[in-house]
Amino acid sequence: MLTTLRIIIASLIMHLPNSISYAQEIDPGIATAHPLASKAGYEVLASGGNSFDAAVAISAVLSVVEPYSSGLGGGGFFLLYDSTSKDSVFIDAREKAPSNASRDMYLDNDGNVIRRASLDGPMAAGIPGLPAALHHIAKNHGTMPLYRLLQPAIRLAREGFPAYERLVTAVMIADKSKSLSPKFKEIFLPNDKAPIIGQIIRQPELAKTLEILASSGHAGFYDSFFTKAMVEESQRDGSIWEIEDFKSYSVIEREPIKLNFLGAELTMAPPPSSGGTTIGSVLNILSEFDFLGMSFSEKVHLITESMRRAFKDRAFYLGDPDFVDVPIGKLISKEYASKLAESINLDKATPIHEEDEIDGSIGWNEGAHTTHFSILDNNGNRAAVTQTINTWFGSGYMLPSSGLILNNEMDDFASKPLSPNSYGLIHGEQNSIQPNKRMLSSMTPTFIESDRGIAILGTPGGARIISMVLLSIIDYLTGGDAQSMTASKRFHHQFLPDVIRYEKDAFTNDVKEDLQMKGHNLQEISNYGNMQVVTFDNATGETESSSDPRGLIEGFEIDFY
Ligand code: DON
Repeated sequence: MLTTLRIIIASLIMHLPNSISYAQEIDPGIATAHPLASKAGYEVLASGGNSFDAAVAISAVLSVVEPYSSGLGGGGFFLLYDSTSKDSVFIDAREKAPSNASRDMYLDNDGNVIRRASLDGPMAAGIPGLPAALHHIAKNHGTMPLYRLLQPAIRLAREGFPAYERLVTAVMIADKSKSLSPKFKEIFLPNDKAPIIGQIIRQPELAKTLEILASSGHAGFYDSFFTKAMVEESQRDGSIWEIEDFKSYSVIEREPIKLNFLGAELTMAPPPSSGGTTIGSVLNILSEFDFLGMSFSEKVHLITESMRRAFKDRAFYLGDPDFVDVPIGKLISKEYASKLAESINLDKATPIHEEDEIDGSIGWNEGAHTTHFSILDNNGNRAAVTQTINTWFGSGYMLPSSGLILNNEMDDFASKPLSPNSYGLIHGEQNSIQPNKRMLSSMTPTFIESDRGIAILGTPGGARIISMVLLSIIDYLTGGDAQSMTASKRFHHQFLPDVIRYEKDAFTNDVKEDLQMKGHNLQEISNYGNMQVVTFDNATGETESSSDPRGLIEGFEIDFY
C-alpha cells in the first residue's frame, strides 16, 4: 500500500519540504511546520487512517519536535469537517484558569500589573487541554486507537530528534528573555549550553507521559496517580493548581462560525477564539463597499479601517462564552457591519479618540511560536488545527517528573482591563480572569469552500493570526493559491497601537505615500507567521499543500513512503 503512493514532487521543488501531496481519488494533502510531523501524518493516512487520526498523530509529534510552540502542557483548537455527515465541528481544547485564580492575581497592592507575572513560571499556566483533545478526537472522530496514533511522538521523545536552527534560536531567545526551570535547562540547555544543530534532543519524561496518555487516555492524564504527582510537583514550585481542576477539565465541541463572503462559505473559530468573529466583522464591512473594484492602496486603507473597528470590538465584547454574554450574532451581522461602514472615510484614517488612548508601554511579540497544521484525506475529511503553549517555550517551566513544558496562556486574559498583553492586545472585563474560565485566543483554524474548491488554513502569530488568515481568505477568493496564501507579504492593524505594521516589500513607495497622506502610521517589521495551507481544486482535481516559506525547517531528509 505504502509503496503505491505517488508523491507529487512539485511541492517539494517549490521549497516546501514540510508539505507534499500524493495521488489517489482525492489526493490527500498535509501541511505542517515540521517535516517529522508531516511524515507521521502521511504514515497514518497511508495505513488507512482519516484526517482526524492524522491530526492526533501530528499534534503529538509537534508537541515533541517543536517544544517551543505547543505541547501537552498547553492547548489548542481543532476544526474538523466530516465528509460523510458534511458537518464541521470546532473542538475547543483551550486551557482554563485554575479554580484558585482570581481577577487581580497579577496585580500588586497598588493595582499595577506585576511585570511578567502572567508569563513566567507555573503561576502563568492554565490547565492544559491538548491531552484531552487527543483522547477525544481519537475516540470520537478517528478510526485508530490513541495508543497507536501516539507511537511516533513517543518514539521521537524517547529516542530523540536532531536539533535544528529554529529550535536552537528559540532556546537562545528563551534563555535571554525569561527564567527557565532546572528541568527545562537539563533537557534544552545542559551545562548552560544551547544545543548545536544536529544534536539529538531526548525527552524521556515526556515519552513516559505520552505513554500514560496512550495507554490510559483522558483519565490517565486528568484523574490518576499521575495527575496527583503533577499537581503536587507544580504546587511545590508555586502553582495554584488543584487536582480538581484536572478532574473537571474537558474539551468542548462548539458550533463553528459560518459566514459568506464573495460567494464562498467560510467556517471559522468561535469564542473563546476571537478569530472568526473579528474576521467575520471585517469581511462584512468590506462587503459594504465595491471592494473588488478598488486599487491595492484603497484596499489596504479599507481593510485597515475595518480591522481597526473589528479589533476594537474584539477588545470590549469578546471572552469565554460560557462565562460572559458574547454578542456574536450582532458582531457578525450585516446590519452592524453597515453601521460600522458608515463611519469609514475612504480618504482618511480614523483618528484615535482620546478615550481610546491606552498607556504607551505596548509590548510587541515578534515570535512565531504556536503552530498550525492542515490536513485533507482521500475521502475529503479535513482538519485545521492551531495549538500553543503561548510565547516561546510557554512559561519556561518544565514539570520535572512529567517533562511537560507548562503554557503561559494566563497572559491571554486581561491581567488588568485595558492593559496590553504580550501581543499588545487590550481586553475589557469580558476577558478578565475568573476561576475555570477560558482565556480569549486569536487562534483561527479556518475552512474556505467556494465554487473553485476548498482551502484549509491557519497560522501562529498572536494577534496577527487574525490579519494573516483574513488576508489569505481574501487572496484565495480573488484568485490566489496555496502558495500565494503562505508566501504573500503581510500587514496588520489591531486598533491599538494605532499603526499599520507591515513586512518589507508588502507596500510599494507609492502605496506607503498614499497611506501616509490618508493619515496612517506605518511601521516596517520583520517577517512573521508560519501559515500552513492545503487546497483542493474542483476543476483540476488537484490538491496543493503549502508551508510558509518563513518557517521552513531544513536539514531533514525524509522519505514519505
Ligand atoms: O491563543 C492565542 O491567541 C495566543 N496564545 C497564540 C500565541 C501565538 O500565536 C504566538 N505566535 N507567535
